[in-house]
Amino acid sequence: QSLKKYIEPLPIVPKLYGYSTHHGHPKSTCLTIGMFRKKWKFHRDLPATTVFVYGASREEATFPGPTIEALQGVPLNVTWENHLPEKHILPWDPTVPVAIAKHGGVPASVHLHGGVNGPQSDGSAFAWYTADFRDKGPKWTQTTYHYPNVQHPGNLWYHDHALGLTRANLLAGLIGTYVIRNPLAEAPFGLPTGDEYDRQLVLDDRSFYKDGSLYMNYTGNNPTIHPQWQPEYFGEVIVVNGKAWPYLAVQRRRYRFRILNSSNARYFNLSLSDGLCFTVIGSDVSYLRKPVTASSILVAPGEIFDVVVDFSESKTSDVVLTNSAPYPFPGGDPVSDLSSKVMKFVVCPEKTKDDSRIPASLMAHYPAADEKEGTVRRYIVLYEYQSATGEPTHLYINGKRLEDPATETPTLGSTEVWEVINLTEDNHPLHLHLATFQAVRVRELVNLEAFTACMTQKNDAVKCNVTAHATGQLKAVPEHEKTWKNIVKIEPGYMTTIVVKFKLIDRDAHYPFDATAEPGYVYHCHILDHEDNAMIRPLLLKH
Ligand code: C2O
Ligand code: CU
Repeated sequence: QSLKKYIEPLPIVPKLYGYSTHHGHPKSTCLTIGMFRKKWKFHRDLPATTVFVYGASREEATFPGPTIEALQGVPLNVTWENHLPEKHILPWDPTVPVAIAKHGGVPASVHLHGGVNGPQSDGSAFAWYTADFRDKGPKWTQTTYHYPNVQHPGNLWYHDHALGLTRANLLAGLIGTYVIRNPLAEAPFGLPTGDEYDRQLVLDDRSFYKDGSLYMNYTGNNPTIHPQWQPEYFGEVIVVNGKAWPYLAVQRRRYRFRILNSSNARYFNLSLSDGLCFTVIGSDVSYLRKPVTASSILVAPGEIFDVVVDFSESKTSDVVLTNSAPYPFPGGDPVSDLSSKVMKFVVCPEKTKDDSRIPASLMAHYPAADEKEGTVRRYIVLYEYQSATGEPTHLYINGKRLEDPATETPTLGSTEVWEVINLTEDNHPLHLHLATFQAVRVRELVNLEAFTACMTQKNDAVKCNVTAHATGQLKAVPEHEKTWKNIVKIEPGYMTTIVVKFKLIDRDAHYPFDATAEPGYVYHCHILDHEDNAMIRPLLLKH
């Protein structure tokens, strides 16, 4: 594609307020958000593209969908209506575990990623439904989802989660952001505020046919086994807030950017030209305990970084947001010239007044991750199963399928330690529903071949003497990733120790719902092509 870069402005993502105000007091409200098929212009010189997108109405639906603004402590109800057509606009594969509607229509299920929500409102892969709830998955229970918003302030996102269709439904555009604010706690930080200086940057990669339609492979790389499934989707066009390589005119002052990577499989290793740095203030649903300066940030699929950039330090008028991550990450092809550019900031020459600041500390009271608090230690092993010709056929966790009974059954309110062992060649972004977690140790595995051979036979890290293999070099966890996250990147050939909290992190409070109820939760790889085939397992809480 020879689309010209930086010719269209960065769109502002529209907002929907998840509360109403009554005599100055915020009150709980209900929203109805639909999923619609419509046409979307990704670039001036590209014909309009048919997409599936979220919005209060078809006219208002956008790529990405509206940002839902919620307040901590103010519950929100959302009715997610499926108005998708009879047929999908993208190929999907009937040989992976997949939702199939008897009467046609596109199955959908909405998950609020990072949300502390009851299982019936979590958007289970088995709770999918088609237009007018005509067909429903086996775990479907209700038309309206309840989001209590009891958790601390931070960045979430909502997206589709229908069984085996996640990669196609998100690629089509079923993506949106969700912010939980606590003005009393956050105002003293003095960070940039307001729609102009506090912005969403939603990053996606896509490829297009000449007629503007979205390109996705119709044939699998191992078609005798999976006629369509490919292990990773990569697009060469980088899209920010629904525009290919946009620009943003900025003043010489600080801006806050909430950066989400909602790509299927592409990692972004982001830097700024002109020597500018990111001041990272949070990641996923949590602020850091104090700001951390970083010259680059590696954003995996599904991951969010909340940063401040100070354009008053820019020496020139053009600052480019660049990407240097190979694909697949980390051992794949070097980034192409096209996908090495994300967007451009055009900096106004005159200095402007800036009342914002970078505070010395943020959520200093958040607990640090402490492995000793863990009451259970689990081993989670990521494999890739290959065909005789060496093509990946499927990716199970601990050698088990999603349909197999839950083996991860943590106690409500507990802290656990998970040793996540990556025997594949790719980095995998691990995501757990409900819980928050962080990496405390990243240790290289030695004698990897012998260990892998044992693991593929026995599926049991302890029997394969994991402690004798987890003796290699340590890799530091980046300072700007040390908070309570929803995604941790799992390095190939390493054992990553994560501390997982099945409770709220900022105070001693119970979940305001029965987290042990059906249909439970899941944990999975957030490379969507992996999640669909089927690097995903149930997560069932117990009392
Ligand atoms: Cu963001 Cu289970 O997903
Ligand atoms: Cu993966």
